[in-house]
Order: sequence, then C-alpha cells, then structure tokens
Amino acid sequence: MNQHVPMASRSSNNSLTEANGLSTGPVPMEPYRSPAFYALEQERVFRRSWLMMGRVEELPKPGSYIVKEVEVCNASVLVTRAKDGAIRAFHNVCSHRGNQVVLDDHGTASRFVCRYHNWTYANDGNLLGIPDESQFFSVDKKKCGLTPIAAEVWEGFVFINLSPVPEVSLTEFLGDFGEYLAGLKYTAAEHPVVFVAELDCNWKVVSDAFSESYHIPAIHPQTIGDTFASKSNPFAHLLDAKIFGPHRVNSMFGNSQYEAKPNSLVERLGQAAMATGNAISAVSADTVSEFLSHPAVNPTGSADWSMDVNHVFPNTHIDSGQGGFFVHQYWPLSYNRTRHEARFYISPPTNVVERFRVEQYIARVCEVLLEDLTNVARTQKGLESRAKDFMQLQDNEILLRHGIDMVEKWVAAETVREAMA
Ligand code: FES
Ligand SMILES: [Fe+2]
Repeated sequence: MNQHVPMASRSSNNSLTEANGLSTGPVPMEPYRSPAFYALEQERVFRRSWLMMGRVEELPKPGSYIVKEVEVCNASVLVTRAKDGAIRAFHNVCSHRGNQVVLDDHGTASRFVCRYHNWTYANDGNLLGIPDESQFFSVDKKKCGLTPIAAEVWEGFVFINLSPVPEVSLTEFLGDFGEYLAGLKYTAAEHPVVFVAELDCNWKVVSDAFSESYHIPAIHPQTIGDTFASKSNPFAHLLDAKIFGPHRVNSMFGNSQYEAKPNSLVERLGQAAMATGNAISAVSADTVSEFLSHPAVNPTGSADWSMDVNHVFPNTHIDSGQGGFFVHQYWPLSYNRTRHEARFYISPPTNVVERFRVEQYIARVCEVLLEDLTNVARTQKGLESRAKDFMQLQDNEILLRHGIDMVEKWVAAETVREAMA
C-alpha cells in the first residue's frame, strides 16, 4: 500500500508537464473570470465532488459537532458524532420552515433546538420533538429528521458529498492518490493554528498561488525566497510532480544550505532554539520523524527538500513540510470572491524555548501568507480586464495546468465517472 510511487522523471523527459501527459500550450483565462463558468463549477465540480470538511480531531467525542458553510453549493453543513461514535453529516436546515438549526460553528450537544419554534433534533438527525404538535396536520416525525448528506472519513479527514446519491464513493474518488498517502501519520492534528481570509479573486487564483514555487524568489525575497531557492536552483524548480486522476502532487526544492542573514537576529535566535535549526519548521525533526518517514513525504528523498503540495480535487491542499502537515482550502463565495482557510498543525510548546520558536514560526507564516494573499486581487483584476485571454504557463506551473484541465473536464462531463475516466 505505502510503497513509493515513482513520480515522473526529469531524466527521461526534461519536462514534467509532458512526462505527465499534459499539453504545453497557453491556458485559457475565461474559467477564472466568467460567471457562467462559475455556475457550471458550482453544479458540476462542487456539487459532485467529495469535499473536505475537517479532521476527526475536531469531533473528539460523542456530541461533538462542527458546522461548515459551503457557500458554493448554498449549503450549511452540520457534521456530528453521535453516541454510536459514527460521524454523520446533515443539511443544517429545519424541517419546519427551513431555518438554520445550529448557529455555532462547533460545540458539543446531544440535541439541537431550532431557535425559531423550538423543533428539536438528536445529533443522529432524528426529529425528537415538535412543540404544540397536535395543531399540525398529519406530520410524520420519522420523515422530518435533518436531511442527511453523504459523509465518509479517509485517514482522519472528514469528507461530504452534496449529491443526493454520490456517483462514486470517497475511496473511488481518491483512487490511487488515496493509496499514495495512506498511512501518513498526521502529527499534531489536534492543534491547528488557523488563518482565514476573504479575498477578491476566483478560488483558482488563490489555489494557484499555493501550487507552484516559481513565484517564491520573486514575491517572497525577504522571507522564504532563500529557503525555496538557491544559487544552484535560483528559480525554485520543482523536484518532481505527479498526476493522480483529478488529484495532483508536486515536491518542492528546499535549500539545505540556508542560513538566516547575520542581521536577522530574531530568526537566528529561533533557529538556535531548535535542535535541527530548520528554517521552515516549528519543531525539531524527531517529533515528526514518523511523519517524515512516509514514502509520500519528500517522495524523491532529496536532501534539498522543502515541502510537497498534495492537491485533493477540487479545493484542498494537504501539504507536507519539514515540521509536519498543513492544509489550505479555497472556498468559492462567487466567481471573483473566495474564502481562504489555512491550518498549520503544530504541537503546543512545552517550554519557553519551544514557545519562542513556535511564535517566531507563526509570525513568519503570517508574513508569507500576507505576501501571497495581498497579491491575488491584483491577478484577478488583470484577468477581468480581458486584456489577455490566455496564460503562459511554464513547466514548474504544472499543477495549475492540470487544475484547469480537470475543472474543464468535470464541467463538460455528464457524469462523475466520465469526468474521472
Ligand atoms: S423553522 Fe425551525 S422550528 Fe420553525
Ligand atoms: Fe507564496
């Protein structure tokens, strides 16, 4: 199951793009700016795909629940763990007159009371009580539970599918990509540091921003430019990339010779606090050794490695780095508005030295995210100007090219099986 799956090799073919069977021509901009295309994405991509809602650690005990707004499908999704331990998902919609039942985004409750007229539901979805029930006309309580949504768990990630009957199971949807990542030990999964931002851009613009390292020397020169590039690899060429059906992976170069500049005193102090002195991790290597030993983490086994982007179609990145994993999600709000959610999973510090290192790391992550996220609206503005109709993508932007190919394929396909063929 977990044996190393070789990625496309640069030595046999100098282009990752061609070795993965992708075309090399210009890529259309219309899917990034067209309200009509967005309407198709809503119906054919987001309503038919398995969408990641969160981790099982967010639902630690019977009664735990989370609520996720999935605006792209006009859905509010309630995910619960009931007494039997099972994780279920429901539309967060009252059977009486359609009010939202649960207003908090997470909590613990064995029952939910709709605030409008106090209809009460169990956390397994059953309708428990209707106030003044005798005044209703033959209401069948058994048929008035919360509307279920297909939910499945893979490797601790909770997915839902908003099709009334999903065409493919989560296992089929993930396919060999699921097998590639199977068994990964997600370190510190109970401890996310969460960043949320609403952005003036199409969801793919921000997904693209976290899918390639070509931009890093240019846009992040003061922060991570010298960690993702070096004299020998000045443009941060990828180590490798591989396509898995609608999903995709790349592995990024990391400069193992990196040292903080002499005048970067806080960064140097942070590095000195670590056994490894690693510049792009908050923890020492021994705390994540099991995670790092998985064959899908640093899949080329390079000494000069920074991180892997594991893109779960359509809108989730489960990234692997030297300090563990982190997750980006790109939730469309409209054709040119997106909520970006990033979660960096970091064990709580146990002493003051670790605390200093973690705080310095989080501050660094904030800086880097701001460098990326303050740029996306500029890209969207340019796309919407219609000055250009096509993007010119280079080899190291392979994930973007595959992403557009897949979205176009799903939009055109009548069925999910056809989209995945
Ligand atoms: S709408 Fe929920 S109780 Fe009336
Ligand atoms: Fe970036």
